[in-house]
Amino acid sequence: MSELPLQSTQPMLEAVNLTKRYEDGVLALDRVSFQVRAGEIFAMLGGNGAGKTTTINLFLNFIEPTEGEARINGIVTHLEPLKAKEQIAFVSENVMLYANFTAIQNLDFFARLGGQTHYTRDDYHNVLLRVGLAKEAHHKRLRGYSKGMRQKCGIAIAILKNAPAILLDEPTSGLDPKAGHDFIELLASLRAEGKAILMSTHDIFRAKEIADSVAIMNDGKIIMQRPAAALVDTDLEQLYMQYMAGRSSELVG
Ligand SMILES: Nc1ncnc2c1ncn2[C@@H]1O[C@H](COP(=O)(O)OP(=O)(O)OP(=O)(O)O)[C@@H](O)[C@H]1O
Ligand SMILES: [Mg+2]
Repeated sequence: MSELPLQSTQPMLEAVNLTKRYEDGVLALDRVSFQVRAGEIFAMLGGNGAGKTTTINLFLNFIEPTEGEARINGIVTHLEPLKAKEQIAFVSENVMLYANFTAIQNLDFFARLGGQTHYTRDDYHNVLLRVGLAKEAHHKRLRGYSKGMRQKCGIAIAILKNAPAILLDEPTSGLDPKAGHDFIELLASLRAEGKAILMSTHDIFRAKEIADSVAIMNDGKIIMQRPAAALVDTDLEQLYMQYMAGRSSELVG
């Protein structure tokens, strides 16, 4: 990171004409461009198959773009994948963790895997409490966890990585209403620490509540993007439905 000091003018996450045509010919992403700065949350809304996960997977370099670039702190992900990965923490919808390990053991395993050997047991307990996992669960094996509890554990691992950018694919999908609410507060606190956050979600209300910028994707394209300030007096669900009905040309603003 020392080679690439964070400048407030440089976006932490940037999609530049990002395009993905899968091997079978499906054009999943079509010249998508956006920027997310440090201390900002960017939410992608859109129907099934709109291209949200594809966008996230391109930033993670799980797949390579057919055209365009995904940049993390100025690093082009498909050109310098290892360097780019250092800058990013990821929470997927289906967090992959070790079922036979306890939460503490999972945290310790993944922290060490990422070269973070300085964390103490107290650090692990504290981060698990921060994501809303009660103390009595910390020493339980994950095979007995609910989906939402596993998700929280995954978020704790992402926080421990302490990367400047955080990517989340439908992070609230497994969470109960209270956990969903708490999660939004957690995201706000990560934003306050200066993280750049890119998330996909089907939850329009939470997107409006938390995001600094909201994009609606359809058929591989961003069909609407607005800063949260421009949505304050807008019924985002209604706007979403209008865009999905293809009546965007009738909309003002
Ligand atoms: N590995 C793949 N091979 C071929 N086509 C794919 C692959 N992954 C996704 N697609 C296609 O790319 C398009 C975008 O899919 P993507 O998973 O990015 O959508 P999404 O917005 O995340 O949808 P959802 O809300 O259901 O998660 C879809 O048409 C999908 O069928
Ligand atoms: Mg998806």
